[in-house]
Amino acid sequence: MNSKIIIALDYKDEISTLALVDQLEPSLCRLKVGKELFVRCGSGLVDKLIQRGFDVFLDLKFHDIPNTVAGACQAAADMGVWMVNVHASGGRKMMQAAREAIEQSSHQPLLIGVTILTSLSRGDIAETGLDIEPADQVLRLAQLASDSGLDGVVCSPLEVGVLKQKIGQEFILVTPGVRPAGSDAGDQQRIMTPAQALSAGSDYLVIGRPITASPNPVQALKDIINECG
Ligand code: C5P
Repeated sequence: MNSKIIIALDYKDEISTLALVDQLEPSLCRLKVGKELFVRCGSGLVDKLIQRGFDVFLDLKFHDIPNTVAGACQAAADMGVWMVNVHASGGRKMMQAAREAIEQSSHQPLLIGVTILTSLSRGDIAETGLDIEPADQVLRLAQLASDSGLDGVVCSPLEVGVLKQKIGQEFILVTPGVRPAGSDAGDQQRIMTPAQALSAGSDYLVIGRPITASPNPVQALKDIINECG
């Protein structure tokens, strides 16, 4: 299974989620479960997705003291998810504790960092006390994530080139903000097409509404795969 497309399952309940998932093939895509779906449906739904053969990215963005984040990552590993993430701003000790917890698990998900949320502007970040260009802080946190043993980070497709160059080609970059040519950008501001994001060096593309809001999600997924070549 080597699909680079991760479908964001931003649904409110299990019935609508499985209605989509049961049309999909694990060879064509992976699946992302975020906070809303997880809080509503819990680990039982994640189990069902894994039992159907899908790789699951558990997108819960853990951020807490090292001991608590380590325990949460261990629990995610025990669930059998393929990828899990933590906030890089939780610091080196927190990320190292997450890495160690995963190393000790029999199943070892990829461990990914979140740098600066793309919803934050320079002004929003300054208000929290960080008077710095967001792009500089993204690079700093990505480097810290790499130094702390993480496998990669989530970033905008526009940041992929510089991160691959400065941190290394093997550092995994997971990119939302992807829109097929001609589709609605919605609330995403800084976008690339799937083919552009892959040729920039993205390892995995997180795509939600262009697939989930399509009248024919399976065809939308296949069109994206064909567009990527
Ligand atoms: O529907 P859309 O393709 O915009 O969905 C993108 C997914 O990626 C959503 O689940 C969103 O929460 C997530 N995401 C994002 N931007 C980030 C981090 C995560 O859009 N910086």
